[in-house]
Amino acid sequence: MPKKGQRLSTPKIKLAVLGSGTGSNLEAIIKATQNPKYPAYVGVVISDQKEAPALKKATAHQIPAVFVNPKLYESREAYDQMLASMLKEYKVDLVILAGFMRILSPIFVQAFPKKILNIHPSLLPKYPGLHAVKEALASGDSHTGCTVHFVDENVDTGPVIAQTKVPIQKGDTEDSLHSRIKEQEHILYPKVISDMGPSLWIEKLKS
Ligand code: GRF
Repeated sequence: MPKKGQRLSTPKIKLAVLGSGTGSNLEAIIKATQNPKYPAYVGVVISDQKEAPALKKATAHQIPAVFVNPKLYESREAYDQMLASMLKEYKVDLVILAGFMRILSPIFVQAFPKKILNIHPSLLPKYPGLHAVKEALASGDSHTGCTVHFVDENVDTGPVIAQTKVPIQKGDTEDSLHSRIKEQEHILYPKVISDMGPSLWIEKLKS
């Protein structure tokens, strides 16, 4: 029993963040984890790009940062098998894709059922794939947005967890629209992770 006045620390789940690019979502998640009440911490950051800013950002925060070179593996499956084994070693509770530019094979997805999240810059199921912002801009739609979803064995098709709408403004370019979408991603992704934290923690205690 905690003594009167004694503060209990928040139980935390361990995240792996996988990214190939600038790592702005990673940065938003790290920032959220700095709040002592946030129920998760980033245990490892992995990239398929040696020079990915995401790796440098992780290192700057004393988070293990690992470059896993795709050229060293003979197939996508071999790479994904390695990745899955590494994340099992790190004992991560949730895998966060944040601009990871590789399609994950079933071998990886099945290793972490319902434990892999992705963020996508459109209101899925609209505009899956690589050109989501460009396609929303060309569509004449009044708004687009961002989606956090579970990753399944296809591209951008897994069950949607949460979405935020972003209006498309007159004169928007792909860059201006993408940066306003990212502003919303940086709020939505940490919130979804935070909302999932307690139930994942309970699951972890039971296992
Ligand atoms: C984001 O727009 C995300 O929706 C997409 O890739 C981009 C990653 O950006 N999947 P960053 O590396 O987090 O800045």
